[in-house]
Amino acid sequence: MVEVLAPGRVNIIGEHTDYNDGFVLPFAIDKHVRVRIERARCWEFRSENFKEHIVLERIERTSTWADYVMGVINVLRSEFEIPPVTVEISSNLPTGAGFSSSAALELAVGWGIKELFDLPITKLEMVQVCHRAENEFVGMRCGIMDQFSVALSKKDHAIFLDTANLEYQHVPLNLDGASFYVIDSSVRRSLVSSEYNRRRNECEEVLKILGKGSFRQVEFEDLSKLPEVLRKRARHVLEENRRVIDAVNALKNRDMRRLGEVLYESHESLEKLYEVSCPQIDYIVEWLKQVPSVLGARIFGGGFGGGILALSTDPLNEFAPKLAKTYESRFGLPISLMKISSDDGVRRLN
Ligand code: GLA
Repeated sequence: MVEVLAPGRVNIIGEHTDYNDGFVLPFAIDKHVRVRIERARCWEFRSENFKEHIVLERIERTSTWADYVMGVINVLRSEFEIPPVTVEISSNLPTGAGFSSSAALELAVGWGIKELFDLPITKLEMVQVCHRAENEFVGMRCGIMDQFSVALSKKDHAIFLDTANLEYQHVPLNLDGASFYVIDSSVRRSLVSSEYNRRRNECEEVLKILGKGSFRQVEFEDLSKLPEVLRKRARHVLEENRRVIDAVNALKNRDMRRLGEVLYESHESLEKLYEVSCPQIDYIVEWLKQVPSVLGARIFGGGFGGGILALSTDPLNEFAPKLAKTYESRFGLPISLMKISSDDGVRRLN
């Protein structure tokens, strides 16, 4: 029997750049998916959180969370002989808040199977297996950031990743007394898959119109050649890449004010140019701007709901109940606040 722990992730900055050959700056967090895997007579998946028990004779789609598990097994089986296993899953990672619980589940299962059958496969290769599983089996055409950060993060560091060539650097998370917090808006993202795939298609359309093979060849001068909506999408990508580099420099110089500013700038761009925010999240970000200890905040992850990442010099204990009250009376939803610490990537426990 093998037991594996895989963390969730947040992304400091670099949103909707990972499927555009751009830069991202995520880190793994100290909340996890845990799996126990052992050999069995048929495929059996149990989730403590979903109180579900799925038993299958063969690998097939079920349109449930189990597709993330089967997707990974399916891709691994294109290269290795893998006999049936039982997978037991438990998690303290909120789903739908933007922490990428799906990538955590994929990596936990993939790494567990690697350990159980001693497969000759590196962490980077497993990242690619899980990415393929999500794109091809689940049908969410996500970039590689989530799987990469869940696998290759290092505690007390963020990963500065160039998704064009997968070169990366661990950048120390010296926040000079500030901390990251996540406010969960409780808005769950029913649109995420269709709208997300639509943004991807729009970005592909940009390249087609400009006759370029990669977003890295797109220049600011090209923007005027695009129709309005595509111009906004492309401008977001170009400016967001610059902001990732600004954020890395701010971290290296321990310039928390600058780091906060780029978070606010990123939010504005995601709201107005890329159009992946929602009124509830915009409301919270505007509130945060009035709180002196908050240096910056933005929506993170795929968008259309989920969480806000905030950088603050204070734990927000006094302010959070006030926000919760006005937010609830306006939108009829609760909010929750979590302090976020970094962690290492996926690992075996036993
Ligand atoms: C989702 C995807 C990632 C990335 C973000 C947006 O979380 O899974 O690959 O594209 O959205 O930055």
